[in-house]
Amino acid sequence: MQHADPARWRQHRFGLPEARWDALRDKSVWITGAGTGYGRCVTLALAAAGARVFLTGRRTQKLEETCAEAATLGIDPARCIAVPADITNPSEVARAADSIAGQTSQLYGLVNNAALPEPRHTPWPLAELDHAQWNALLATNVTGQRTVSKAALPLMEKGPALRMVFMTSEAGWAFTPGFGPYNTTKAALNNLAASLAAECAARYAEKDVQVNVLVPGEARTEMNRGSTESPYSVVCMTLALLSHPAGGPNGCFFHRDGRHLAFAYAPPYSKSLLTPSTPASGSRAGIPVVGRLLRRLWPEM
Ligand SMILES: NC(=O)c1ccc[n+]([C@@H]2O[C@H](COP(=O)([O-])OP(=O)(O)OC[C@H]3O[C@@H](n4cnc5c(N)ncnc54)[C@H](OP(=O)(O)O)[C@@H]3O)[C@@H](O)[C@H]2O)c1
Repeated sequence: MQHADPARWRQHRFGLPEARWDALRDKSVWITGAGTGYGRCVTLALAAAGARVFLTGRRTQKLEETCAEAATLGIDPARCIAVPADITNPSEVARAADSIAGQTSQLYGLVNNAALPEPRHTPWPLAELDHAQWNALLATNVTGQRTVSKAALPLMEKGPALRMVFMTSEAGWAFTPGFGPYNTTKAALNNLAASLAAECAARYAEKDVQVNVLVPGEARTEMNRGSTESPYSVVCMTLALLSHPAGGPNGCFFHRDGRHLAFAYAPPYSKSLLTPSTPASGSRAGIPVVGRLLRRLWPEM
């Protein structure tokens, strides 16, 4: 697959307009699953934009590899700070949050990206998966996201603006046999994120709250060895959501290819994501701008 060379981030800024790229400078962002796949790519792009990125995952070595990769791409590795934690363990998450609180006066962003894939022990997992496997998937893909969000909110409410991106999957809309448990976790994650968006909007009515959901599509990562696509393909939309100025989407659903999606009773976001002052209509409202940028980077999209 052709994709943007991450080492040339100064030229392409992963498709972000300059003002949006600059808006991320010195922002503190917490990201889970930062040691591999999408999480590593988003971490590196955020650090390249000048954000301070707090990296969570269970394997410290993978987090350190992400920091080391920053240096090889000409990104200041000091912008990547490992705060290892198992998101299914509330005490570890609380320790990570304490560590972040000690290193930044306010947290601006959270990318809830960590997840486990379908266990694939049986073609009939809803009938046959044992309770421990079912619970492990829910504990990571749903409860863990809520645990991290809960720990992040006291750090985020100190500032005037907060941004969260929940990494979901097309599985959250799908009923594919063999993937029922994973599908269920991602549908639950969709509702968790949109419900949290509504709760935060009501609780922090005076703040600029943008909590949204992104379908990252397929890419080659630890959980998807079959894909040939680059995990950098998710960076543009993730950064577009994190860098959005006040008045942007909240409780909305997006695809990495720029599509605006509906979920349950939530209609697609009706404005353009990169030019918020220009109202647009229809579910493909974001495609002209974001889609053009994405196609410049990944021409085969
Ligand atoms: N790749 C695709 O084709 C695809 C498609 C649709 C959606 N997605 C979604 O994209 C997101 C990123 O996945 P990926 O494709 O980049 O896969 P990945 O490389 O397997 O990343 C998953 C990350 O989650 C972390 N993680 C798992 N359990 C954890 C726990 N209990 N505590 C803390 N961290 C934990 C893992 O690190 P440790 O093992 O070190 O903890 C790993 O870094 C996921 O939400 C996934 O569902 C991916």
